[in-house]
Amino acid sequence: MPDDSNVVVRPARTVRGVVRIPGDKSISHRYAMLAAIAEGSSRFQNFSAARDCQSTLDCVATLGCQWKHLDDGTIEVRGLGPRLNPPAKVLDCGNSGSTMRMLSGILAGQHFSSELCGDESLSRRPMARIMKPLSEMGAKISSSEGARPPLKIQGGPLKAIDYKPEVASAQVKSCVLFAGLFAEGETVVEEPIRTRDHGEIALRAFGAEVERQGNASRIVGGQRLRAIEAHVPGDLSSAAFFLCAAALFPGSQITLPGILMNPTRARLLDILIQMGLKVSVAHLEEHQGELVGTIEARGAEWKGALIAGADTAALIDEIPVLAAVAPYSDGGLEVRDAKELRVKESDRIAAVAANLRKMGAEVEERSDGMKIPGGQHLHGAKLDSFGDHRIAMAFAVAALRAEGETTIHGADAAGVSYPTFFEELRSVTS
Ligand code: S3P
Repeated sequence: MPDDSNVVVRPARTVRGVVRIPGDKSISHRYAMLAAIAEGSSRFQNFSAARDCQSTLDCVATLGCQWKHLDDGTIEVRGLGPRLNPPAKVLDCGNSGSTMRMLSGILAGQHFSSELCGDESLSRRPMARIMKPLSEMGAKISSSEGARPPLKIQGGPLKAIDYKPEVASAQVKSCVLFAGLFAEGETVVEEPIRTRDHGEIALRAFGAEVERQGNASRIVGGQRLRAIEAHVPGDLSSAAFFLCAAALFPGSQITLPGILMNPTRARLLDILIQMGLKVSVAHLEEHQGELVGTIEARGAEWKGALIAGADTAALIDEIPVLAAVAPYSDGGLEVRDAKELRVKESDRIAAVAANLRKMGAEVEERSDGMKIPGGQHLHGAKLDSFGDHRIAMAFAVAALRAEGETTIHGADAAGVSYPTFFEELRSVTS
């Protein structure tokens, strides 16, 4: 569906206020999927408002699992236990790679066949990374040419595997561990670089035993899951837009309560602090194994950074916004080892470079990264979201320090992870 929505962003002088960030997308997907195969009814407060998570809820409903919103906004998911119902229609994952890749792990263990499709962007994204391990476990999976969606999965009895993914991907790790629940024996996933561990933490919250040693996670098949009640922490990757906005203006001050502080995601805070943002975290608590805290941030100086290796994997979703504001920094930004950015919801290296150039910035685009000099003055421009939520939001932030107004075409893409983003951004900028 073409997205003709335009949003105009005017330059700001400061960023100030409190933003309540919606629930984390990665955790919400996993909670909804595991709740579907758990025994009993699970309840989730602050479940992500993202369109992507709605895709997951729609898919589990098509698999026979009922869910509803309660009066206070809590989501209740009635689990079916390990056996879902054969779907009467194709499972539409929309724009959500997480839905397609992780749900495939559960579908591989079901005794029926299913088909998963996605929108134009998802239909271009690589699926070999999950097809390979799931096939090794015994599922039969076919795809379009080049291992692209749609996927057809004939599930059945699975055998455990020891798997070493070539790409560092939390989606792949969760997919294989979810399939491991249905497999005979112990499944091991040993990742090349440590990625977010929400899959492991959520499995444990639902009562499964998951062991972790170094970069290897292990799960024994046949474990039953029990329903949980949980409050989903605010999404740090969504908070990143407000933290970068505050970083643009010395004297800005932003408070973000109840944000996910999981160490596999919080590398962002280290980098922002290193770049000059003043950050403190208060009220640290744990919810269902996930760390949560209130972030207070103040804009001060804005220095440059190099993001490479394990940092690139840890910051993969935040690189677009860090890059979009990099020209305003003193030292600029260099990003290496980031070829995964080329196969996200858009080619995020090309999208960032194209929009920055339209704003008058100098950018060096590389096959697996980019180099953006600091100390640049940008002007407002007509930009494109490339149908990608993070690109739409990243450039709304960059536009705050440009000279003149910026129009973001296809801005509605932001709803894929953060439907009220533009209202919130307006409410804290002046
Ligand atoms: C996610 C993992 C990352 C990330 C995506 C969410 C997850 O993708 O980019 O937004 O919830 O596991 P990859 O697993 O492809 O790196």
